[in-house]
Amino acid sequence: MALFLADCLQEDPGLVLGLPTGRTPVPMYRALVRLHRQGRVDFSRATTFNLDEFVGLPAEHPGTYRAFMERHLFAHVNLNPARTHVPHGDAASPRAEAARYEAMIAAAGGLDVAVIGIGGNGHIGFNEPAASLPAGTNGVTLRRASRAANAAAFGGQLARVPHRAISMGVGTILSARHVLLLATGADKADIVAKALRGPVTTRVPASLLQLHPRAAVILDRAAAKKLTSR
Ligand code: PGA
Repeated sequence: MALFLADCLQEDPGLVLGLPTGRTPVPMYRALVRLHRQGRVDFSRATTFNLDEFVGLPAEHPGTYRAFMERHLFAHVNLNPARTHVPHGDAASPRAEAARYEAMIAAAGGLDVAVIGIGGNGHIGFNEPAASLPAGTNGVTLRRASRAANAAAFGGQLARVPHRAISMGVGTILSARHVLLLATGADKADIVAKALRGPVTTRVPASLLQLHPRAAVILDRAAAKKLTSR
């Protein structure tokens, strides 16, 4: 995965990347940092847009996704800080911030490669299962399960995990020229099977990837366990 991104960056040093947070991408970031230290990947001209950010945390809070990205990638590679973007969760108006973020992605020419994870409930970014989903970057309300999955960064206390976030919309993600979905571990096997083999529905936001002409899914054996061949 990291090698694939390194190749993409070699081919197009000005790549615009969509980036995820969470448990799943940590090994990918570790590998990218290693490749960078070996002089095998250069981020100096790349631009990044993270998928989402909690609303309401002060910028210096260690639980923000900006802080996660600093810890796992930004502090260790030669990305230009001015070209690393994470929604500002502390903005006075999350709605205005979402619009600003969407406009910045458009101004950068859209995403070349969106790397995304999948929530246990099928969410992509923080687009939770619903009867309908906003296409563009938006303020969203988090499901309890999604908040629980993030509790570790808040001292294990669910009550401390924010209830709101700003997330790229499903249209923003699906407009990326390439989408790479990462999933690992047995706890993702059911939702991966639903997303890839089930009907396309906003009740399983990741199923919308079936509509994308250049989406790839990278799974470990455990996450692929429920996929039957057809
Ligand atoms: P995880 O999160 O990598 O921590 O499982 C994935 C997601 O919620 O998108």
